[in-house]
Amino acid sequence: MARVTLEGLGKHFGADKIIDHVDLEIKEGEFLTLLGPSGCGKTTTLRIVAGFLSPNVGRVLFDGKDVTRVPTQSRKLGMVFQDYALFPHLTVAENVGFALKSHGMRKADADKRVNELLALIRLPAVANRYPLELSGGQQQRVAIARALAHTPAVLLMDEPLGALDLKLREAMQNELHSIQRQLGITTIYVTHDQEEALSLSHRIALMRFGRIEQLDTPKEIYSRPKTPFAAFFLGKVNFLQGHVVGRVGSNYEIKVGRETLLCPIDGQHQSFDLDAHVVLGVRPEQLRLNQAQQAGGQNVLHGRIAREKFIGKVVQFDVEVDSGATIVVDGSLEQAKGVGSHVQLVWDARMTHLYPFAEDPELGITRAEDKRRAIGAPAAIDARGDLETNRMAPA
Ligand SMILES: Nc1ncnc2c1ncn2[C@@H]1O[C@H](COP(=O)(O)OP(=O)(O)O)[C@@H](O)[C@H]1O
Ligand SMILES: [Mg+2]
Repeated sequence: MARVTLEGLGKHFGADKIIDHVDLEIKEGEFLTLLGPSGCGKTTTLRIVAGFLSPNVGRVLFDGKDVTRVPTQSRKLGMVFQDYALFPHLTVAENVGFALKSHGMRKADADKRVNELLALIRLPAVANRYPLELSGGQQQRVAIARALAHTPAVLLMDEPLGALDLKLREAMQNELHSIQRQLGITTIYVTHDQEEALSLSHRIALMRFGRIEQLDTPKEIYSRPKTPFAAFFLGKVNFLQGHVVGRVGSNYEIKVGRETLLCPIDGQHQSFDLDAHVVLGVRPEQLRLNQAQQAGGQNVLHGRIAREKFIGKVVQFDVEVDSGATIVVDGSLEQAKGVGSHVQLVWDARMTHLYPFAEDPELGITRAEDKRRAIGAPAAIDARGDLETNRMAPA
């Protein structure tokens, strides 16, 4: 088992900066996931750790020893990729034992080790079958056993479950989790699947544009996302734009459209000045959908149901609020009152995340949107149709 340190890693291909100053320490025995959208540099980072690629700047250390120039085969790695590429002409046992015999292990010892590994991946019965006689999930388990055969110091996995269908992927996640925890092998895992990252990892390094945007435990990154992108990429989130108009007790007061919302000062990743243009984030599962007249709670927005979408265990409501934004809420079938119904969205102020405004069209955060709201969001006001707003709406 080894501790892996990435120190100021940078990599560019031609003029494109692909990895931009990545610093990361993976603890001994840790399961660390590089998570991020396609193209953010996960595979490139992993290939640098593996020694397939040299960084332009920075160093890779194993247990504090610089291995940046050490060839792959001397780094004591186990590797599993999406395309598991077992040798088709060798049996399962031969595939797993291949590296052992080529490293000069005696046959009796190698056979024993192979049996241990097949027990570990719970596939002892298929030792004499050929890869093509196995299901995708079974083949991938064999690939994992093969990667573990010579007891590597570090296990690297790049989207190893990517080719499997959903059900199988879930089963394999459990398998991987238990194997890694059982062996305590330092693991760097690459995926773009947030649920996979949340369920498998000790810590997640969330990447975007070749940088690490947040490094935290799954619980922390989900409940206290450091950036709008972190909130967006892990789970679902609604964004609202507003301005800081005051501080009351332990909360900021944020004006969103005509309504004032509270947001705790503590627990944010930064502090905000009066008048600051901010983005509020709140997750759909934190919102409660109330009847328009019902007694409110701490944070309340008024709106109308624009869409009710049945998605199995929850009904997803799209609610158009007075500021013009559309907010997604998870609710139940009993709450489905029909499109056009007036409702309140209510939530605990503590569940509000606050960020400095920065345009980010990929997340739906744009300045144009803000201007549209600032001049009165005519579409939303027309739709709401009460007297006061009708007077305000342009003729
Ligand atoms: N050998 C290469 N030459 C040029 N560009 C590359 C090369 N390898 C990767 N890239 C580019 O680097 C970016 C990051 O790629 P990659 O690390 O594979 O992302 P991820 O694994 O997160 O999807 C992509 O835009 C990709 O096109
Ligand atoms: Mg990749």
